[in-house]
Amino acid sequence: MSDGTRAALEQQIAELQQQLLESQKMSTVGALASSITHEFNNILTTVINYAKLGLRHKDEDARDKAFNKILAAGQRASRITTGMLAYARNKSDRKDEIDLTQLVEEVLLLVEKDLEVHRIKVEVSAQADARANVNVGQLQQVLLNLIINARQAMEAGGRMMIGIKANREEGWAEISVRDTGAGIPAENLRKIFDRFFTTKTTDAQGQGGTGLGLALCRDVIEAHQGRIRVESTVGKGTTFTLKLPLVGSSIQPLQPPVRAVQKAG
Ligand SMILES: Nc1ncnc2c1ncn2[C@@H]1O[C@H](COP(=O)(O)OP(=O)(O)O)[C@@H](O)[C@H]1O
Ligand SMILES: [Mg+2]
Repeated sequence: MSDGTRAALEQQIAELQQQLLESQKMSTVGALASSITHEFNNILTTVINYAKLGLRHKDEDARDKAFNKILAAGQRASRITTGMLAYARNKSDRKDEIDLTQLVEEVLLLVEKDLEVHRIKVEVSAQADARANVNVGQLQQVLLNLIINARQAMEAGGRMMIGIKANREEGWAEISVRDTGAGIPAENLRKIFDRFFTTKTTDAQGQGGTGLGLALCRDVIEAHQGRIRVESTVGKGTTFTLKLPLVGSSIQPLQPPVRAVQKAG
């Protein structure tokens, strides 16, 4: 193959990957759209009711209370739209140094209603101040994919535990997403990061798996010189762990074993 042909092919592959990334993003947005709409309806109901209350009551205390409720509702709506905008604008290569706990909390704001509806309890434990240099939109998308996968693995509800750690000895910042869901059978564990590998069937509304979520997670994390790993036990649950170079550590991260690990049992 000539160098010119190879370059043209590589260009085509890069364009296709960008398209895949976009389509995966839209499917995540689709999965969240109804819960976000629902949440905005709740916020508007709060605003309207407290505005009416404030107008009816002449005393200052009641009005202050109404204004504070309206303010809080507005701020919540604004945080959600800010999160969505950062998410939609994730095309750039821009990287910012951010606190990973803050990133996790911003993403949870987008999904907490959805998780509540599906009877999933979320626990966040931030053991240390972990900072990393990341493309915020892309990292949000990675976390959203992991969280939505975990939710889909817990059809009857369950628990989701998100941990943030700083491993200073090894130079890694870590985020783990653990669920108490169905788990992943050993024969699938090697395939889950492959593009288009999905065990989710498409329903009448065209909602279903794309098999692009984890492939995208891996691409994004590796582009950040990080690692993504999975541990799973069928019937017990699954943990995905992301490692990113820790900011403020002089140590070059050791390269841990890549990807899949199957637990006994
Ligand atoms: N937390 C999880 N628990 C159980 N299975 C999972 C989990 N995350 C991913 N999987 C499996 O990996 C497959 C691929 O995931 P993904 O790439 O996100 O595609 P999709 O979600 O569209 O199927 C899923 O279809 C599912 O079988
Ligand atoms: Mg998925």
